[in-house]
Amino acid sequence: MSQVAVADRLQGIQEYYFSKKLREIDELNKAGKQIINLGIGSPDLPPDPTVIQELYEQALKPNVHGYQSYKGAAGLREAISQWYSKWYGVQVDPNKEVLPLMGSKEGIMHICMTYLNPGDEVLVPNPGYPTYASNVALTGAKAVTYSLTESKGWEPDFDQLEQLDFSKIKLMFVNYPGMPTGKAASKELFEKLVDFARKHQILLIHDNPYSFILNDHPISLLSVPGALDVAIELNSLSKSHNMAGWRIGMLLGSEQRILEILRFKSNMDSGMFLPLQLAGAKALTLDKDFHDQVNQIYKERRLKVEELLALLNCSYDKSQVGLFMWAKIPAKYKDGYELADAVLYGADVFITPGGIFGSEGDGFIRISLCGDVSRFDEAISRVKKMKHS
Ligand SMILES: Cc1ncc(COP(=O)(O)O)c(C=O)c1O
Repeated sequence: MSQVAVADRLQGIQEYYFSKKLREIDELNKAGKQIINLGIGSPDLPPDPTVIQELYEQALKPNVHGYQSYKGAAGLREAISQWYSKWYGVQVDPNKEVLPLMGSKEGIMHICMTYLNPGDEVLVPNPGYPTYASNVALTGAKAVTYSLTESKGWEPDFDQLEQLDFSKIKLMFVNYPGMPTGKAASKELFEKLVDFARKHQILLIHDNPYSFILNDHPISLLSVPGALDVAIELNSLSKSHNMAGWRIGMLLGSEQRILEILRFKSNMDSGMFLPLQLAGAKALTLDKDFHDQVNQIYKERRLKVEELLALLNCSYDKSQVGLFMWAKIPAKYKDGYELADAVLYGADVFITPGGIFGSEGDGFIRISLCGDVSRFDEAISRVKKMKHS
C-alpha cells in the first residue's frame, strides 16, 4: 500500500475515546464476556410513533427525494422557532436566525471552521464534551481550558477567567445542563456569561442538548436580553426526542452569524433528507406528556444507578440533571480510570472514567441512564459479587 501521510492537522488528535474502548469491549465480548456498557449516552427509547409515521408518509411521496435547501426546510425552521418560543420563551426568526443541522456535533465543527485561524484561542470547559477541544485543534487554533470544579458548583470561576490574556481568545464554549457534570442551567449564570462575552468581545457558543432530560425547567441562553449579539446556541433532538441516530440538530444565532456559518456549511453538505426534516418538525410539536413519559423511565433508572453508586462508595449531587449520573470516587482509587477498570475487569461492567472529559474530571465517573432497568439490576448484582470475591 502506498504511504500517504495524514495531514498535520491530525497531529495530537486521538481516536475518540469511546471508539477505542468499544473495540476493547468487543474483544472482551468475543472472548466470551458479556460486558454491560453503562458508558454511552445514546437514548435506547424510541421516538414517538407519530414521528416515525410522519417519516414514513413523507418518504412515500415521489417528490421528496432530491437535494434540499442549504438553509434547511422551511417547515423545520418554523417548527424550531415555535419550539423555542413554547419551551424556552425565546423568539427567533425562522427565516433568518435558525439553521437546521445534522446533529449539533457537526455545528461545533462548522463554528470552528467558520471563525478560527491557526493561533486563535478558544475557551473550553474542563471537564467538558471532548469534541469542543478536538474541533478547535483541527482548525489549528488552541483550546484554553477553564476549570469547572465541585467547589464552584461546576460553574466557571469568573475571577479566574478575568486573569486571562484575551488578545487571542475568540470563542468560548459553554454547556448547561452540563455534560458530564449534570449541573443545571440558571438564568443568573447565563446573564453573567452574556456580560462576560460582551465585555471581552468574544463569541459565546452555548450547547444545550440536555435541557429536557430529568429537568423541569428547560432554559436557553438566548433568553437573556441581547444574547443574540454575542452568542450562538446549539440544540438537538438526539436526547430530547430519542432521535440520536437521525442526526437532527439546530443552530440559533443572529442573521449575520447564520450567513457566516452557511458560507462554510454549504460547501460541506447538501442538506438533509426532506422527510427526516419534516419528521423532526413533527417531533418538535410533541407536548409535555411525551417528555414526562420519557423522564419517568429515566427516573426509575436513576434510582438503580444511585444504588450502584452506593455500592461503589461514590458520592453524588442529587440535584444534577441530564442523561448521566456524575459521581465522585472514593479515596481508595487513584482516579476514575482505576475504578472504571476495576469494574470492567472485575464485574464486566463498563462505566466512563471522568478523566476523559478533562483533568478536573479525574476523581469522578459518569454512568449513562441509557439502558433498561434489568441491565442496571444485573450490573448491581455483578458489582455485589465482585465486592464479595
Ligand atoms: C454536550 C454534548 N454536546 C453535543 C453532543 C452531540 O449531540 P448530537 O447528537 O446533536 O450531535 C453531545 C452528544 O453526546 C453532547 O454530550
